Amino acid sequence: MKSIVIKQPEELVIEERPLPEPGVGEVRVKVKIAGICGSDSHIYRGHNPFARYPRVIGHEFFGVIDAVGEGVTDKQMGERVCVDPVISCGHCYPCSVGKPNVCTSLVVLGVHRDGGFSEYAVVPAKNAWSVADNIADHHAVMVEPFTIAANVTGQVNPTEADVALIYGAGPMGLTTLQALKGVYRVKQVIVADRINERLAMAERCGADWVINNGEKPLAEWLDEKGIKPTLIVDAACHPTILQEAITLASPAARIVLMGFSSDPSTITQQGITGKELSIYSSRLNANKFPVVLEWLEKGLIDPDKLITHYFDYHHVVDAIELFEKDQKSCCKVLLTFN
Ligand code: NAI
Repeated sequence: MKSIVIKQPEELVIEERPLPEPGVGEVRVKVKIAGICGSDSHIYRGHNPFARYPRVIGHEFFGVIDAVGEGVTDKQMGERVCVDPVISCGHCYPCSVGKPNVCTSLVVLGVHRDGGFSEYAVVPAKNAWSVADNIADHHAVMVEPFTIAANVTGQVNPTEADVALIYGAGPMGLTTLQALKGVYRVKQVIVADRINERLAMAERCGADWVINNGEKPLAEWLDEKGIKPTLIVDAACHPTILQEAITLASPAARIVLMGFSSDPSTITQQGITGKELSIYSSRLNANKFPVVLEWLEKGLIDPDKLITHYFDYHHVVDAIELFEKDQKSCCKVLLTFN
């Protein structure tokens, strides 16, 4: 089989590898489509502190089961599946409180262990989620990015009465936007970004207001409108955003962070405690694959609005370079393995 391997930072090869056999409790997936995420590019460029090389990247993938390992009774050959990249131990403290996404021995497919940018991938059977017939292949591959939004929104229980503000109209901001509008029916969702083309995507994904905060300060814009957000999601993840969010938030608001910057954020206690704000963080997903599969079955979200490009996997370098360089035209870039 052919696999896309990052041998070391900046060295990507499409390599012939032996077809892996599923072990006890595993299945082999013949990959059909995979999605490119920022972390794939970070591993390629050597900017992901968790990655070990050589690595088959890719943690967003969909395919068909073509071999079943010993002891697997609930998965069959030919079953269409999308794969949860989060592998957890099941017995540490975070696992015991329903947060396998921060398991003390967390393994993420495509980061710590070989992932889905490959013609075949062997994965734990319990990570392979069956996809209903009425969900198209190119929607099934989008389940993983939407699980990030399911995790973010699941932390804060949004209501129709919320006034939500999302920083960033990249894939993460847009999946969160679709969840807030389509699933939680939040009446007002504002999206801020610096790129007008991305704001146009946010409008197509259901944003009630978009604001280019590179052109006009967000505080001024919200003041003019008399808006105090009750729910703020930072899907842009610059360390300065937290203090701004604290300042802009309504009393009793919730703020969700998604970023991994190691640079400090300067914040004031008074800003948080004075308004009794709740600050949450969200990493990957905690058992959200069935949640998003249900959203798709019910038509509550529309992945088509995020997909901008398809590439045959042989052109993976072109695909990653386009993804990195052209945020105006690119949102979700998919690789096909047919
Ligand atoms: P992206 O880079 O495609 O999108 C970020 C967007 O934020 C861009 O459109 C950019 O113009 C905008 N932006 C940057 N600074 C801004 C500011 N000050 N105000 C408003 N907008 C601003 O990235 P993507 O894929 O959407 O991911 C967003 C962030 O989420 C990344 O930092 C990524 O590391 C993080 N992430 C976190 C995950 C988690 O589980 N916690 C999972 C996936 C991504």
